[in-house]
Amino acid sequence: MLGKKVVVTGVPGVGKTTVINGAMERLATEGVAYKAVNFGTFMFEVAKKENLASDRDEMRKLEKDVQKRLQQAAATGIAAMSGEANIIIDTHSTVKTPTGFLAGLPEWVLRELMPDIVVLVETDPDQILMRRLGDASRARDMEGYRAIAEHQEFNRAVSAAYAMYTGCTIKIVRNENFLLEQGIDDLVSVLR
Ligand code: AP5
Repeated sequence: MLGKKVVVTGVPGVGKTTVINGAMERLATEGVAYKAVNFGTFMFEVAKKENLASDRDEMRKLEKDVQKRLQQAAATGIAAMSGEANIIIDTHSTVKTPTGFLAGLPEWVLRELMPDIVVLVETDPDQILMRRLGDASRARDMEGYRAIAEHQEFNRAVSAAYAMYTGCTIKIVRNENFLLEQGIDDLVSVLR
């Protein structure tokens, strides 16, 4: 039997990886096994090998066709390893590039992954900005409230197209300050 494929998305710094890690820990105690893979890491492995980027935050600044090629390579790699396991794919509904929003799950990626559920992790834009400022390990874009709000709105619109193409469901998970456990509960409820 094929495993469940759950794609978890959200604007940079919203806390996707934090919520995924919490949900995986919780599910492990219940005996529910999931494998979590990071789409950006798959892309970055290829980008590094080809000397295209020296850190993961540089990738969204690469020429569009280069990003699309890395994206295709990641989708193929992830599809090849998913098989019967339940899998969480940590990625982006859209990526903000210098020439506009790039779909994170265009048709050629969806065809490979065919997710059962697409999760959008969201919170208030001012919280996201503070998280970006507080995470020195990354070079995330510094944007204002309105730009982050627009990116979250655009992600919802694009995710509707993903649902139309694949028949997946769309789940919105809030990851608010001081309420991480609530976000984890919500994600666990769709992963179970
Ligand atoms: P990616 O690999 O996805 O970057 P990432 O570091 O995994 O994710 P983000 O930067 O989005 O952060 P996050 O939301 O996981 O937040 P975190 O949990 O770390 O992407 C790298 C690159 O790969 C992209 O830029 C793009 O170029 C490329 N890429 C990926 N997918 C692609 C696709 N499909 N197509 C094309 N390109 C693609 O948390 C952030 C901070 O917030 C932390 O300090 C954390 O402690 C804090 N925090 C989290 N939750 C809370 C809370 N509830 N309260 C307070 N603080 C919190």
